[in-house]
Amino acid sequence: MKHTKIKDLLNSPSTLQEVNAKGWVRTFRNNQFIALNDGSTINNIQCVVDFENTPDEILKRITTGAAISVTGNLVESKGAGQKVEIQVTQLEILGDADPEKFPMQPKKHSLEFLRENAHLRVRTNAFGAIMRVRSVLSFAVHSYFQQKGFVYVNTPIITGADAEGAGEMFQVTSLPLHSLPKTEEGAIDYKKDFFGKHTNLTVSGQLEGETFAMALGQIYTFGPTFRAENSNTSRHLAEFWMIEPEVAFNDLDDNMDLAEDFIQYVIRYTMEQCPDDLQFLTTRLLEEEKTKPQAERSEMNLLEKLHFVLENKFKRVSYTEAIDILRDSVPNKKKKFQFVINEWGADLQSEHERYLVEKHFKCPVILYDYPANIKAFYMRLNEDGKTVRAMDILFPGIGEIVGGSQREERYDVLVEKMKTIGIDEKELSWYLDTRRFGSAVHSGFGLGFERLVLFVTGMTNIRDVIPFPRTPGNAEF
Ligand code: 4AD
Ligand code: MG
Repeated sequence: MKHTKIKDLLNSPSTLQEVNAKGWVRTFRNNQFIALNDGSTINNIQCVVDFENTPDEILKRITTGAAISVTGNLVESKGAGQKVEIQVTQLEILGDADPEKFPMQPKKHSLEFLRENAHLRVRTNAFGAIMRVRSVLSFAVHSYFQQKGFVYVNTPIITGADAEGAGEMFQVTSLPLHSLPKTEEGAIDYKKDFFGKHTNLTVSGQLEGETFAMALGQIYTFGPTFRAENSNTSRHLAEFWMIEPEVAFNDLDDNMDLAEDFIQYVIRYTMEQCPDDLQFLTTRLLEEEKTKPQAERSEMNLLEKLHFVLENKFKRVSYTEAIDILRDSVPNKKKKFQFVINEWGADLQSEHERYLVEKHFKCPVILYDYPANIKAFYMRLNEDGKTVRAMDILFPGIGEIVGGSQREERYDVLVEKMKTIGIDEKELSWYLDTRRFGSAVHSGFGLGFERLVLFVTGMTNIRDVIPFPRTPGNAEF
């Protein structure tokens, strides 16, 4: 008999038919009631064992984490908490889970402990919910862009270009590290390396994405990106997934509209598809917040926060206005910020972004027109000669979730900028071709997928929303 997914059994309109379910035991109560889960839903199905006719050796093996197969009638449940249950007639242990050794016992585990067991934590309710939500969110990303006629582009993972000019890249090489080939001048001879040049893992698919936008009009990427920045924070990963749309003929306002519409769509879609998981995560967060002092608890619960983002326009504020607000803010005057804002031109730290979003505006904020010298070389210079058409979207509890810009489409201005900051024109000659041939206004942005998952799940550490996090000193699994 083929097994039926527990999600389908729980939604089944008819009872009494013989069914088979396979899954992992969550709990086994009174030698009679199994809570069985197969990952198709956060909800378990109750399986009632005929303990008088089941041998003791079998009953003993029904332990948390064991894989089992149960066959029986699907009947209306007399117990509270579930509509239907399985009255087991046949039970088979598929794989034991020794209770002395299986780490995921039905009790509260710390998130730190679960991180160390990332291969097993997905068997808990919380991580099952997070990973289903993550999956639905990624489908929503494709669904949004595909409906709008964007072309999905797979940009390279190994690259010779440093898109963000940040220099925080992981090198890719097949050279023997213990005996590196040297040039006559004594430098490492990358001509002997696999690609005949120095290569890295990509930090962004944008530059390649732009070349495609200048032919296909509207494109998006959705792939892994890598940053070797040594920031051990709850918002940074060394390997994360980024979504980068790029659109020909869009200016910065169009870019903001697209980003806002896109974010609202994927959140709405996920709320429609994952009501049980999001309800569970909302309750989880409420429980967690109870352990915090009143002042640190959020005013809205998770579902309310998600609704709020759908129902309210993001506030659009220029960098210059933001600096004025920050300079006059109480934490700045009382020197409560780690980095006190004194003058125009200062780079905004996460503490400033969060003040703006959480304390001042109390809604998602799009900051735009940043000083040129704190942003990447490819952003379009404004008429004032000192700001660029950049935009960052800041979210409550997260800080920056999106970074993007209108691109510098003027060949001469772009080359001049590259010269001043020392980017080799020859290295990026292919990129400059987009400006040499048929250049046009265009814009795009990058959304950090895990930061989006953080927001939607209400989790607070980015390591808890990616299956196997990579961070400084940590590449287990
Ligand atoms: O602001 P970033 O660096 O922008 C770019 O890479 C542009 N090329 C995007 C574009 O215009 N096409 O990164 C974009 C987003 C950030 O806003 C943040 O959400 C996320 O990527 N991000 C990270 N997420 C997790 N861990 C990290 N170390 C991240 N660095 C950036
Ligand atoms: Mg950024």
